[in-house]
Amino acid sequence: MKVDGRHIRSIWLEPDGATVSAIDQRRLPHHFAVERLTSCDAAADAIKSMLVRGAPLIGATAAFGMALAMRADPSDAALDRAYRTLIATRPTAINLKWALDEMASLLRPLPPSDRTAAAYSRAAEISEDDIAINRGIGEHGIALIKAIAATKKHGERVNVLTHCNAGWLATVDWGTATAPIYLAHDSGHAVHVWVDETRPRNQGASLTAWELGHHGVPHTVIPDNTGGHLMQHGMVDLVIVGTDRVTANGDVCNKIGTYLKALAAHDNGVPFYVALPSPTIDFSVADGIAEIPIEQRGPDEVTDMTGRTADGRIETVRIVPDGSPVANYGFDVTPARLVTGLITERGVLKANRAALAAAFPERNATAAE
Ligand code: MRU
Repeated sequence: MKVDGRHIRSIWLEPDGATVSAIDQRRLPHHFAVERLTSCDAAADAIKSMLVRGAPLIGATAAFGMALAMRADPSDAALDRAYRTLIATRPTAINLKWALDEMASLLRPLPPSDRTAAAYSRAAEISEDDIAINRGIGEHGIALIKAIAATKKHGERVNVLTHCNAGWLATVDWGTATAPIYLAHDSGHAVHVWVDETRPRNQGASLTAWELGHHGVPHTVIPDNTGGHLMQHGMVDLVIVGTDRVTANGDVCNKIGTYLKALAAHDNGVPFYVALPSPTIDFSVADGIAEIPIEQRGPDEVTDMTGRTADGRIETVRIVPDGSPVANYGFDVTPARLVTGLITERGVLKANRAALAAAFPERNATAAE
């Protein structure tokens, strides 16, 4: 997507064919900075510190991390070490494990001398595939927006509510939840996005708003608790969110607060869609609430807020009394029964086992092995 009129991805391989560069998302929206990742440890730190984040981008970064590891040392021991280091970075998004398994199953049978080239090539392919998959999600999802637009009088805009950042910054390009929105906007449909700020890290306010603004998509940032009110007043036509893991049954794990939006949507008859690339499906788990590990993050994200002062300084201030304990669960699970549909690269599916297995039989079969 575009930043200042220039097309850019969230991660890319430099012309030297070795160094990986990524946008430092910790510094947005106030500073646009690019970080060069030159080792597996740097890639792991980038994921852990949330320099990069978002399920598909975590997967792509981990794949490049394996390539960087092989460049330094293509031995079996280094391969195992890289896998262990990268898998330990974040627990919830399944794209991380998917990408590492893809890399490891390709590299392990190869002689060490062939591993570096193969690793870079597969990591680049994972990135390109992510872009193509997200474009496919957009092509299926735009039909939902067009169908609502057709019911509007006088070309009124379609109002989409989204949570967290499932935009191009969370993927290599296009985003998942945003792909239908960007395609609709680019093809002249009037869309407007309600952007949940997404406490505590504010990925909506700082990242989704930033990328929609740079691409020229009309949007409004709202406090997280506003969605229910908007839905009661007919101001939301549909919800589209991303996800970090979808179970074989169609349960959806996503950024904390997604479940409350699904409940409000259900109560108000607002369609609630989840956009996902197939690597986000985990056919090895069924019950999302019982089986998906939920990341618990440090208290600072809740107690402190960082922003820009009027004179341009970046400052962090504390908003919670000293001594008050805080809890910081990163994700929650929305049961399949609250999901209107799953927007995938192979079409819009019902959120259930039969639909997922029929659309992705090869993934289902691998999980059963
Ligand atoms: O903690 P984050 O910022 O990595 O969480 C990101 C989300 O929850 C996204 O909605 C999800 O990864 C889908 S990204 C296309």
